Amino acid sequence: MRVALGVSGGVAAYKAAELVRRLQQEGIDVQVVMTRSAQEFITPLTFAALTGQKVITEMFGNESGAANVQSAIEHIAVAQRIDLLVVAPATANVIAKMARGIADDFLTTLYLATTAHVVVAPAMNVNMWEHTATQENIEALRARGVHVVPPEEGYLACGMTGAGRLASVEAIAKAVCGQLGIRHDLENETVLVTAGPTCEDVDPVRYLTNRSSGKMGYALAEAASRRGARVVLISGPARLDPPQGVEFVSVRSAQQMHRAVLEHLSRATAVIMAAAVADYRPVAPQVKKMKRGNGRVTLELESTPDILADIARGKGDRIIVGFAAETDHVAEHARAKLESKQADMIVANDVTAEGAGFDHDTNIITLYSRDGSEKAFPRMPKIDAAHRILDRVLELRRAGRQLPAAQPAR
Ligand SMILES: Cc1cc2nc3c(=O)[nH]c(=O)nc-3n(C[C@H](O)[C@H](O)[C@H](O)COP(=O)(O)O)c2cc1C
Repeated sequence: MRVALGVSGGVAAYKAAELVRRLQQEGIDVQVVMTRSAQEFITPLTFAALTGQKVITEMFGNESGAANVQSAIEHIAVAQRIDLLVVAPATANVIAKMARGIADDFLTTLYLATTAHVVVAPAMNVNMWEHTATQENIEALRARGVHVVPPEEGYLACGMTGAGRLASVEAIAKAVCGQLGIRHDLENETVLVTAGPTCEDVDPVRYLTNRSSGKMGYALAEAASRRGARVVLISGPARLDPPQGVEFVSVRSAQQMHRAVLEHLSRATAVIMAAAVADYRPVAPQVKKMKRGNGRVTLELESTPDILADIARGKGDRIIVGFAAETDHVAEHARAKLESKQADMIVANDVTAEGAGFDHDTNIITLYSRDGSEKAFPRMPKIDAAHRILDRVLELRRAGRQLPAAQPAR
């Protein structure tokens, strides 16, 4: 998620630094935009250090004062890039300009140029806040769909008491998360996710593997973590960075994944097996590199441990979700797997479909549950598909599945 944080010129501008940190904790990428007046209260350097990004302070020109193509279109580029614009603190002046469509600096131009959600957190002297002009402007913004986080009552920097103090960082962060659809509805769950392919050694330089990239499993881990769950991500070799805040366990073979899953199972309240685990492995991997010779070579394979079936046996109230990557008869195979593995849900996808399956950033999933329900979704980014799967996990929990007892502290 990308958010532009507009900081305007009020005493509460320093609180925007804390808001940056709070939004970053939600995994949000924050681009700070400051008005000229805001820079009288706090320096851009503070925000640049917190975000690791250049702070936008000017409409025209770049740091050297020379205009270039990049700076000329920056307001449009930022407008298109962001999922949300939050203005905190919002001065009476900036609120008035937004209400009237005045675009005489970067922040107010950005407001007009973006179609993203907008959140405004006003902060000002009580008389300025209660002034008819300000109240009319606030109403105009609300009527346009802008989410206003009202100021709190209390002692104000100007020495007066009343409404006008910037809402708490927590209240503003909550409004931003609400607009972005970030929920914390999984905070009672510990979700164990498996991801990626496994590698089964043939000899020291060769192995059997599959085309799984790990993207679906990593998206599930990220989505569950964002929604407040404790997450253990057990991954085969994947070229991806583990999402922030998840406990990461790296494995290579199906055997290692089996061991790791059983080791962490007791803590899990839900298990989502998105890894493409090898079904077969070489019976006798060679210790030395096999030399090339003439004629055929036969590789003898044996079954790997069936992780899903093993955990389903003593699962208790754990919710178990399996994946079925199929190339034909998707529904038939998914339903059969649901039964044979005693899983609560199977996420099926036809890996031959356009924009679905291995290494794509999108997926087309159908969720089959033990209650007989079947829910098909159109092609969507894997992170969105992950949220749909987690929504269903939560529905199963709410449909009467107790949370397994012993939950160690996070
Ligand atoms: C010390 C001081 C504190 C101020 N605090 C606020 C404030 O909290 N809220 C507000 O709306 N304006 C406040 N102002 C007035 C704004 O800075 C002024 O209206 C300015 O034009 C706002 O510019 P901007 O909206 O582009 O940031 C303050 C001014 C000063 C000198």
